[in-house]
Amino acid sequence: MPEFTLVTGACGGLGSAFVRLLAERGEALFLTGRSETRLTALKKELLAAFPALTVEVCACDLTDEASRAALFAFADDRKMRFARLVYVAGVDTQKALEKYTAQKVVLQSRVNLEAACDLACGVFVRRGDFPEFLAVGSMSASTPMPYFALYSATKKGLEQLFVALHGEWKGRAKVTVVLPGGIPTREDIKENIRAHGWFGRVSALSPRTVAERSLRALARNRRKTVIGGWNKLLYALTRCVPTGIRLSFVSRMWSKTEKDAF
Ligand SMILES: NC(=O)c1ccc[n+]([C@@H]2O[C@H](COP(=O)([O-])OP(=O)(O)OC[C@H]3O[C@@H](n4cnc5c(N)ncnc54)[C@H](OP(=O)(O)O)[C@@H]3O)[C@@H](O)[C@H]2O)c1
Repeated sequence: MPEFTLVTGACGGLGSAFVRLLAERGEALFLTGRSETRLTALKKELLAAFPALTVEVCACDLTDEASRAALFAFADDRKMRFARLVYVAGVDTQKALEKYTAQKVVLQSRVNLEAACDLACGVFVRRGDFPEFLAVGSMSASTPMPYFALYSATKKGLEQLFVALHGEWKGRAKVTVVLPGGIPTREDIKENIRAHGWFGRVSALSPRTVAERSLRALARNRRKTVIGGWNKLLYALTRCVPTGIRLSFVSRMWSKTEKDAF
């Protein structure tokens, strides 16, 4: 039985880029997302392109504890062990906080942070020889972000969690969190990148490039990696700018658009 890479958000824009790259490397894949239909279609597509690939799919709503337990029950039934977790799932609602419903607050917090913690534990328990853990954070965690406040906060939490695990599992696992800037995946995100003009354009990288650089960072066991030269510079500059100025700048830029795809 091969050791599997569990990919969350496998059918999404960035998730499918990770899946493609891992499939090209012949990794056994355990793919999850909310839609059984989309997962089955993805599996079919992968097996058509890579007939020797081992692919398991299991639908899971990451906001639901029972659904997460069922995901691991599926793995346990098949005696699956894990080489890697690639945690890509994320909810990126962007609007004034008073426009959120209570349900949206819960949903975003669970997908972006709680489920990542739960799945990392589950994979670690069912680990292979020297497992690898990759979490997709965001440049949005580099500063508190008005109008993107909960997203930024949950991604900061995710970042702190994985950086801490890098220390906790030292010598037992590789653990990396990556911070990408804009990635033109969904239409609303493409529109958002356009709306941020020059600033949005220079920060954006294709899903494949982000996936490639992320897997490279993981192979090198980098604790935390900002993806892209411009984003690295921006990240460093952010540290030098007083919080008040950052808050005014982000308020001006991020109040111009809203996105709520979930
Ligand atoms: N695009 C960007 O500009 C950008 C920048 C920085 C970081 N990121 C991060 O990159 C990751 C991927 O984003 P993307 O741009 O590829 O967006 P996307 O296409 O919308 O992918 C998000 C994924 O999250 C999954 N997901 C959401 N809620 C879920 C739930 N309750 N249970 C299980 N899965 C759930 C979705 O799965 P299903 O819909 O298949 O269920 C989807 O595959 C996210 O973590 C995002 O925060 C994106």
